[in-house]
Amino acid sequence: MAGRGRLLSCVCLAVFGLLCWVWVSLASLSDGLPHMEVLDAEERTAFQPQSALSDMEFSSVVSTYRGPGNRDRRRNKELPIVLWWTGGLFPHFPGDTERIDCSTSSCMVTSNRKVQLYKRTTSIIFYGTDFRAYEAPLPRLRHQTWALFHEESPMNNYILSHKPGIRIFNYTATFRRESDYALTLQWLPSLEYLLQPVAVSLQEKNRLRKEGLAPVLYMQSHCDVPSDRDRYVQELMKYIQVDSYGKCLNNKSLPERLVDTSTATGEEAQFMSFVSRYKFHLALENGLCPDYMTEKLWRPLHQGCVPVYRGSAVVADWMPNDHSVIVIDTFPSPKALADFLKRLDENDDEYVRYLEFKDRKHVTNTRLLEALDSREWGVNDMSKPNYLNGFECYVCEQENARLAAERAYSKDPQKNLPPQPKMANYSHMGCPLPSPGYGELQDLPADDGWMQTWPQDYWQSLDQAEGLESLIRHNESNPSLLWKHMQNLAVNRARGKH
Ligand SMILES: *[C@@H]1O[C@H](CO)[C@@H](O)[C@H](O)[C@H]1NC(C)=O
Ligand SMILES: *[C@@H]1O[C@H](CO)[C@@H](O)[C@H](O)[C@H]1NC(C)=O
Ligand SMILES: *[C@@H]1O[C@H](CO)[C@@H](O)[C@H](O)[C@H]1NC(C)=O
Ligand SMILES: *[C@@H]1O[C@H](CO)[C@@H](O)[C@H](O)[C@H]1NC(C)=O
Repeated sequence: MAGRGRLLSCVCLAVFGLLCWVWVSLASLSDGLPHMEVLDAEERTAFQPQSALSDMEFSSVVSTYRGPGNRDRRRNKELPIVLWWTGGLFPHFPGDTERIDCSTSSCMVTSNRKVQLYKRTTSIIFYGTDFRAYEAPLPRLRHQTWALFHEESPMNNYILSHKPGIRIFNYTATFRRESDYALTLQWLPSLEYLLQPVAVSLQEKNRLRKEGLAPVLYMQSHCDVPSDRDRYVQELMKYIQVDSYGKCLNNKSLPERLVDTSTATGEEAQFMSFVSRYKFHLALENGLCPDYMTEKLWRPLHQGCVPVYRGSAVVADWMPNDHSVIVIDTFPSPKALADFLKRLDENDDEYVRYLEFKDRKHVTNTRLLEALDSREWGVNDMSKPNYLNGFECYVCEQENARLAAERAYSKDPQKNLPPQPKMANYSHMGCPLPSPGYGELQDLPADDGWMQTWPQDYWQSLDQAEGLESLIRHNESNPSLLWKHMQNLAVNRARGKH
């Protein structure tokens, strides 16, 4: 999946970022640092230690950056272990094990699943897209917490959108602001990115309009998605001219020179100047969920085109001011939206109001400014840790605090309280049942492809989430018993029991 590729390249960037960070902090020792070489897969395997245990207890893993508040002097073999269940995301290389020194305490992190049942392994981190109920690490040990990292679309795994699916996790990093380590603005590199001057002047846009360029751009090649966006855009196209270049609803072809770049996720200059000629960009996310916002939204803002958006219902909370985005769902119909866009297209003063935020003093949203200011991770920013490293440190610190509280409590139960259990809830990731992009469910033909796919996927995910809860409740150690547990639940439901 494209998102996955992006994330992995991000991990590499992050590793480089971290090295640079260490480099800066240890500038005086820089002679002693290893070369930054990119290892190919074979070399990497050769570098991998044979046993996680021997590596963790005896190696002298070079410590990464140590925060100024970190007074943790424990040796590697005394530290709690955090296991990355999704090894492909392990944000360190080479090797599969590393000591991390976070801002106040330290841990060992590893991607070696051999440590799953160890006493010292206090937490397991999962990547949401790859999380499968039938492969979960069981039995679920009482002393272990589970942590969820999921920055991608809700469509990648609807198990996490249901209460029983999300509450098995203790810590979360998701796009939702309510999650423990929120990644809400992950697609927005910086305030400067938003404030970048308008790429194509209104005068030029109007000239291009006279030459026949449509006012609205649509560019989408992932057509079969839960938000069912094409159904809406198709209706909208009846009332306003839309140039549609992607595979979905295509009615125009890209110039030869751009065909290769259109699928790239990077911001290739020629491609960027091609799309920035349009006054409006249709920006519909592939899945609908509060706070799920991607580059589809931020990129037109960056270029000075007005996004016509559907995705997060609370998108206005993060916009630079109260007139920088056109929210599809505030219009009663595609026709009403088309009429509004046509009015803006013919009225320059009304159109430019949407671009006022390019002037810093019109950026009035303090929630946005504070979030950008206070986040500790960076987007393509070498001077900051990336969010994978940030989240593992969050988990590490939580675990060290919990262990300390448990020790204090068992030493002196009169004076100290036991640590309170902590678990995620629906607000950390929950996303609603997919609904048709336009019209009502009951009006769709029985053989409608979208209807046969997404609502079903959503409800099946709920069954799996409940099945996994049942596996955990019964202290099963074989996750492939999931199907049996799901069947039992279904039978009990049919009998009216719970
Ligand atoms: C694309 O379709 C829309 C709506 O059907 C139409 O307004 C527009 O002119 C079409 N463009 C091309 C190049 O066919
Ligand atoms: C972690 O979550 C599980 C499942 O919700 C819960 O039973 C457990 O008490 C939690 N652990 C901690 C340490 O909070
Ligand atoms: C769910 O989690 C959020 C954030 O962690 C918390 O503020 C809220 O009280 C929780 N809601 C419920 C119903 O437990
Ligand atoms: C759960 O199962 C494991 C091994 O499969 C066992 O060691 C443990 O004691 C069991 N826990 C409970 C609460 O029964």
